[in-house]
Amino acid sequence: MKSPLIAPSLLAADFGNLQRDIEMVNASAADWHHIDIMDGVFVPNISYGMPVVKAIEKSATKPLDVHLMIVDPDRYIETFADLGATNLTVHYEACTHLHRTLQAIKSKGMKAGVALNPHTNVMLLEDTLQDIDLVLIMSVNPGFGGQSFIEHTYEKIKALKALITKKNTSTLIEVDGGVTTENSRKLVEAGADVLVAGSFVFKSDNPSNTIKELKESCKN
Ligand code: DX5
Ligand code: ZN
Repeated sequence: MKSPLIAPSLLAADFGNLQRDIEMVNASAADWHHIDIMDGVFVPNISYGMPVVKAIEKSATKPLDVHLMIVDPDRYIETFADLGATNLTVHYEACTHLHRTLQAIKSKGMKAGVALNPHTNVMLLEDTLQDIDLVLIMSVNPGFGGQSFIEHTYEKIKALKALITKKNTSTLIEVDGGVTTENSRKLVEAGADVLVAGSFVFKSDNPSNTIKELKESCKN
């Protein structure tokens, strides 16, 4: 089985030692730095903003995978391009004109991602899939780290994988929320390409080793 890309979520890092934690990710088997932006409106929590992303960008050596949990994300597409985002993911539920938003993200040289809340059906992407570089399936309700994984996620991944095959696009499937080595293999078997993990990595005794374990948990 193909090893997934691993994107540790810095939301669970120690913000008093952010540079240390970023350097740990740099030196680890991780593939991307996952950056969660919450506005206190789209989700009932506020994470961190531009100055922190700027500081992360200074130390990070891997692509920045930015997950916007904010209303009206069009307002900040240019800002995140300037901050060095590689992937910019917006929520389906926050975009009235999703097609236009995707074009705007790509016109700034970034990969365009769409995140789906647990209640949002993957078939709603049928008419935009050809314009989407990655779909982020939320396996918890967005807003907080450390929540338990929603089991229905496997069905959603399989349905999305089938849609990607049918449409013949190269869209990646990313899963975010409650990911551990308990579910990683099953997620990749279902069709996941990228696994985001926050608490499981940063609250472990040896985060770098935990990243490696996640990466290798899908080997035959
Ligand atoms: C949740 C965020 C996640 C979060 C995952 O709203 O999008 O990226 O950091 O945290 P864990 O892995 O602890 O569920
Ligand atoms: Zn996230």
